[in-house]
Amino acid sequence: MNECINILIVDDNAANRETLESMLIGLGHDLRFAQSGEEAMSKAFENYPDLILLDVHMPGMDGFEVCKRIRLHPVLGDVPIVFTTASDDKKSKLDAMDAGADDFIVKPIDGMEIRARVKMIIRMNRHGKLKKLHSELEDSYEETLKGWVRALDTRDSATKDHSEKVTGLTTIIAQRAGISGDDLEAVRRGALLHDIGKFGVPDHILRKTGTLTDDEWVIMRTHPQRAYDILEPIKYLAKSLDIPYCHHEKWDGTGYPRQLKGVEIPLAARIFAVVDVWDALLSDRPYRKAWTTEKVIEYIRTNSGTHFDPGVVDVFLKMIAERNI
Ligand SMILES: [Fe+2]
Repeated sequence: MNECINILIVDDNAANRETLESMLIGLGHDLRFAQSGEEAMSKAFENYPDLILLDVHMPGMDGFEVCKRIRLHPVLGDVPIVFTTASDDKKSKLDAMDAGADDFIVKPIDGMEIRARVKMIIRMNRHGKLKKLHSELEDSYEETLKGWVRALDTRDSATKDHSEKVTGLTTIIAQRAGISGDDLEAVRRGALLHDIGKFGVPDHILRKTGTLTDDEWVIMRTHPQRAYDILEPIKYLAKSLDIPYCHHEKWDGTGYPRQLKGVEIPLAARIFAVVDVWDALLSDRPYRKAWTTEKVIEYIRTNSGTHFDPGVVDVFLKMIAERNI
């Protein structure tokens, strides 16, 4: 792919500027020129070049000073800068790097060499831009997820902070169970969004402090299916569906929504089921006080093999004992 970029050529000597122009013109880039450090600064801030070829020795502001000032700029600071100079000594090269140069080309400049260097810098710069875009995209995904969770926590104030706490514990146990990389990230997102389906449960049921009626339970129990319906069309969350969709399944097949049994239940959801109950029972609810740690451990142990996966319970209780929670 031939990419047209904006190159600023800075040299106080007209012949040198023309030489560089003749060497680069065939590459199809947009070439601009400055004949002093001062002019380089104003053109750089005017045009935001993608690359600067910068002469070192110029009357007035020299190349080192131009480079240092550009590096301090919040937007232009990362632009690739290549020094062009007649000095081939070690000190000049070290000074150039110290000033923030990316590369150093010695005059007289060879046409093949400068073209090759320009192409390489464009490639590296494109890679850097892609990486930056990718990380910005990841950040915005994360902020969106946290926004959903905050919105849900605001509606369901009884479970405030529950999502954050269970996400941390679930991720640790998943890691111990051998889940890693992208799969672990999918588990983390799934845990964070585990009750996202409650968006579809009306306030008078979600915020009710008394016992739910049978009819209300029917509606409450729709939240895993609602989570599936919300998340399934979102491509980057497709791998995170296991927990929101399956966290109320039980090891003995008596859970919901699909009555999955044993290892039919995805591992992430089996891990989450233990952590979810652990955190819920240790917290005050409008309808009951928090249980003691000993009582919760006893409950989890008693329900191992019926509600919970016995293998997960073993790992979980071992971790609780080690961490002295
Ligand atoms: Fe739930």
